[in-house]
Amino acid sequence: MSESVIKKCLFPAAGYGTRFLPATKSMPKEMLPIVNKPLIQYGVEEAIQAGMDNMAIITGRGKQAIADYFDTNYELEHQIAGTDKEKYLVDIRETINQAVFSYTRQIEMKGLGHAILTGETLIGDQAFAVVLADDLCYSSEQGVLSQMVELYKKYQCSIVAIEEVPAEETHKYGVIAGEEIEPGVLRINDMVEKPAPEDAPSNLAIIGRYILTPDIFNIIRQTPPGRNNEVQITDALLTQAKQGGVIAYKFKGRRFDCGSVAGFMEANNFFYENVYKALD
Ligand code: G1P
Repeated sequence: MSESVIKKCLFPAAGYGTRFLPATKSMPKEMLPIVNKPLIQYGVEEAIQAGMDNMAIITGRGKQAIADYFDTNYELEHQIAGTDKEKYLVDIRETINQAVFSYTRQIEMKGLGHAILTGETLIGDQAFAVVLADDLCYSSEQGVLSQMVELYKKYQCSIVAIEEVPAEETHKYGVIAGEEIEPGVLRINDMVEKPAPEDAPSNLAIIGRYILTPDIFNIIRQTPPGRNNEVQITDALLTQAKQGGVIAYKFKGRRFDCGSVAGFMEANNFFYENVYKALD
């Protein structure tokens, strides 16, 4: 594990997962498996690979399964101890040992900005990463968060990961505009949450990986509700971009939108063929 200046990673995980109903009626969407591992574990593994050892999870009602998952299950462990099934628990045991998990609840769903602000109590006064677990990122070499930590060491400011999307899909994302300061790195000068194609400043969409400096908390507090009457991190980041600078990074790798059924199926097929089978 590389020494990192960023030790904490925030996982907003209070959302309802309505696109996966009825499966998510009594189960957090973050626990949906990609092959045999819940989505959120991929995010936690990516954070650990980037040198983080403190996972701050924003939960809500009905999300207890996440806290149980990152804990020991004595009965199960006892039952399979010494059998050939123990190998299935190796990965998760390692993950649990490599990080501390803390939780706080978002009482009302007032948007991603509000969810991140709810995490202030777990983060404190230090730069931190944010992972939206339903954006599953795959990279055969360095994980996306590792790539962003490298960039943070150089620029010491908030960073968002971006990718190009078809113009007709801008309404699903925060969309940025900026000037390229080195290949694949842009200094942001505009950001809009979920614009219609004709209002989008570009086709560069934010995906669910952020590094944020802690002044973002005060900015969020002063950010009025925006799109969908929710407090948007995109709006707070535009303020921060104007004040001191925010960077957008075209990450290396592939991202699956596991918040949609199509993206979730695609991720399952891809991970089954390229990751699971390769290890089996
Ligand atoms: C959130 C953000 C959006 C970002 C997206 C990435 O939207 O608000 O700016 O582009 O995540 O997945 P959500 O998908 O939660 O509606």
